[in-house]
Amino acid sequence: MAENLALHYDKDSLDKAMICRLLAADDSHTAWLFDYAQKIQYECSGRSVYLRGLIELSNICRKDCLYCGIRSSNTHVDRYTVNIEEVIAAARFAYINRYASLVIQSGEQTSPQFIETIDMLIKEIKALSDNKLGITLSLGEQDEATYKRWFELGAHRYLLRIESSNPELYRKIHPDNSRHSYDTRLDKLKSLKKIGYQVGSGVMIGLPYQTLEDLADDLLFLQSIDVDMVGMGPYIEHHDTPLYTVPNCYSRKDRFNLSLKMIALLRILMPDINIAASTAMQTLDPRGWERAIKAGANVIMPNITPTDYRENYKLYEEKVCIKEKPEESKEYINGRMESIGYRLGYGEWGDSLHYSKRQKLEP
Ligand code: 5AD
Repeated sequence: MAENLALHYDKDSLDKAMICRLLAADDSHTAWLFDYAQKIQYECSGRSVYLRGLIELSNICRKDCLYCGIRSSNTHVDRYTVNIEEVIAAARFAYINRYASLVIQSGEQTSPQFIETIDMLIKEIKALSDNKLGITLSLGEQDEATYKRWFELGAHRYLLRIESSNPELYRKIHPDNSRHSYDTRLDKLKSLKKIGYQVGSGVMIGLPYQTLEDLADDLLFLQSIDVDMVGMGPYIEHHDTPLYTVPNCYSRKDRFNLSLKMIALLRILMPDINIAASTAMQTLDPRGWERAIKAGANVIMPNITPTDYRENYKLYEEKVCIKEKPEESKEYINGRMESIGYRLGYGEWGDSLHYSKRQKLEP
């Protein structure tokens, strides 16, 4: 595809047929796509990569997703919940090191005790940081009242991936029961938005059964629900899951390359949102984060979970950032971002511009 064709694409002209063509195109013909997306990112938010310190609070999960290593019926997992003092220490670490924002992620739990633990963590984290640490939650599907309470206590962003926007594919990668309903997932995304969160969603890329058309639809779906943030990355097998044995036409290299293209195309479609360079991308390529940033991503989520727990939060195999201490990852990521001409946005919340604009437009 000729270099100057890039000039003809913007969020209005990139239709489904063209997205499919670009996803299918040989990688040697799409280098311009990454440069173009990076330029759009750069014009929107400069050469800053925002940091979110990720705490993997617990691997106890009520869901049984067919692709996920911590699914409830996997009996080979040592289940844990990080103790509260350690979570607070990790939050303090993030604050002192000017990460500015935290993500609390966990397997889905809905017990009153779990909900109260989160209440308490939000309050404590806000207090220890003089209200300055931003809090993103990634705690699955909850009642609207719970989402609301956490928002009122000070959490301001919520991540809930749609996983696949194709309801049929969603059904193929989840058990067939009401606990794993596509419609419920959509309703929850709507609730989060209504309450006022900055809402993030995303998909897995290169799943068995998934077509390029599905991926094109995923991008258009994310645009249609007007997300503020996106985390998406390659599907990676876990041997203790039912999806492990299902044939997959995408090699790991294909999944990685498709993920890069998905980031770049989404950046063109939604210039002012935050897009994460996912851990799964870093798992498939030693320079996965750099390559994702150079394709248009602008957020990195260093793992600050106390090291001893990390081994047991394996959603997929060979997940990286299991052994490093938080301090090491920080220095390491800093150096890596500088090597590609970016700086880490220390002390900056790094809210998506999209959200700020949305706030101004809405009454
Ligand atoms: N491969 C890649 N990503 C996965 N996730 C869960 N299991 C896998 C896997 N096997 C992703 C899901 C989930 C997020 C927390 O991790 O998209 O929403």
